[in-house]
Amino acid sequence: MDILIENASQIVTCRTRGRKFKAGKHQSEIGLLKDASVYIESGRIKWLGKKLPSSLKKKNVKKIDVTGKTVLPGLIDSHTHLVFAGSRADEYSMRINGSTYEEIAKAGGGIISTVKAVRKASKEELKNLAKKRIQSSIGFGVTTIEAKSGYGLNTVSEIKMLEVINELNREMPIDVYSTFLGAHAFPKDKTHDEYIDELLFEMIPLIAQKELAVFIDAFCEKNYFSVSDTKKIFEQGIRFGLVPKLHTNQFYSIGGIQAAISCGAVSVDHLEVMKPSDIKALENSGTIANVLPTVSYFLDIPYAPARKMIEKNIPVGLATDFNPGSAMSENIQLVMSMAVQMLKMNIEETINAVTINAAAALGVSHNIGSIETGKQGDLAIFDTPNYKDILYHFGINQLFCTVKKGKVIHKA
Ligand code: NIG
Ligand code: FE
Repeated sequence: MDILIENASQIVTCRTRGRKFKAGKHQSEIGLLKDASVYIESGRIKWLGKKLPSSLKKKNVKKIDVTGKTVLPGLIDSHTHLVFAGSRADEYSMRINGSTYEEIAKAGGGIISTVKAVRKASKEELKNLAKKRIQSSIGFGVTTIEAKSGYGLNTVSEIKMLEVINELNREMPIDVYSTFLGAHAFPKDKTHDEYIDELLFEMIPLIAQKELAVFIDAFCEKNYFSVSDTKKIFEQGIRFGLVPKLHTNQFYSIGGIQAAISCGAVSVDHLEVMKPSDIKALENSGTIANVLPTVSYFLDIPYAPARKMIEKNIPVGLATDFNPGSAMSENIQLVMSMAVQMLKMNIEETINAVTINAAAALGVSHNIGSIETGKQGDLAIFDTPNYKDILYHFGINQLFCTVKKGKVIHKA
């Protein structure tokens, strides 16, 4: 059935004017409509404006009155590791008592500790845990999410994770984009070269053959995957039809950004540690700088220089990086609050960063990320008359409902 969302106090359209993403001063443009309505037909936005055209005054329409409320494009979480088992609460406690993330990883905890739990877990267990987390994301207004493998670190377990992600995409009411992150850490039972060979010649071809991933990612970092490892992995991924995205510059600047750009990556993610040459490389690259402020908060590490990047005309996205080690929260609204307070992004830049620029970080900004005719009918509706309240009144969830392809999939 068609759906008419009527009498919104504000509609934040994030309209693109034909752009793939918003950068520089355009990142502050949100295309605000006041006292307006949106009409969604067969899951797509058919019309938006003040006075419904008579051609759309049909009988068989579900009407939702949103007087006093604000409509945003559905929020997009373009970087998560939401499929995992086990808990790292004890490691968190150790960190609070003074150990660092890197020390814990060196001592055999960290990513490897989640790998142990994921290898033991059945697909059903992993899926049920992940479903609850996706449901929680939907409750914050998320209508599209990305999920990575990377806690298997062998062919069988990486495939298991990717199969779970693909089943989640089919079974959950939102779109779940699948990313292969076999290059997340080195497993303890293989040499460097053995594991790189397994990634290149077993995993990537099999994943492509089974069509289990859209993106390929790697953790390009000191003590993890070098720039040369990353390039090999990306080049092989590209040969098999995967699109690169990269974890880089979290702890050190080792050239990951330049490698990612040279491979045509849609996004580079983290960016807490940036040299001037890294920022320079991103200028005019068309690659989204995907910033993850909850990681900085949770690990107590520097925040990415988002303000500086916006000033240099680099499109900035924001995501949760939801994972059991460095950001144990699916709350994208918290990410938005931190962007404003800690990254000094303005409210409009922040909203564009979790809508249109997040869509661009998944290569789908032609289809989602803004409220424009022809685009998918994905909305996050907030119970407040002014979009600024979403950031101003912080620490609570003002979501009224989440709409996916013209269907209400969550009501507060
Ligand atoms: O994006 N940095 C690498 N990977 C994750 C953390 C994964 C973990 O600690 O389990 C991240 O922060
Ligand atoms: Fe991550």
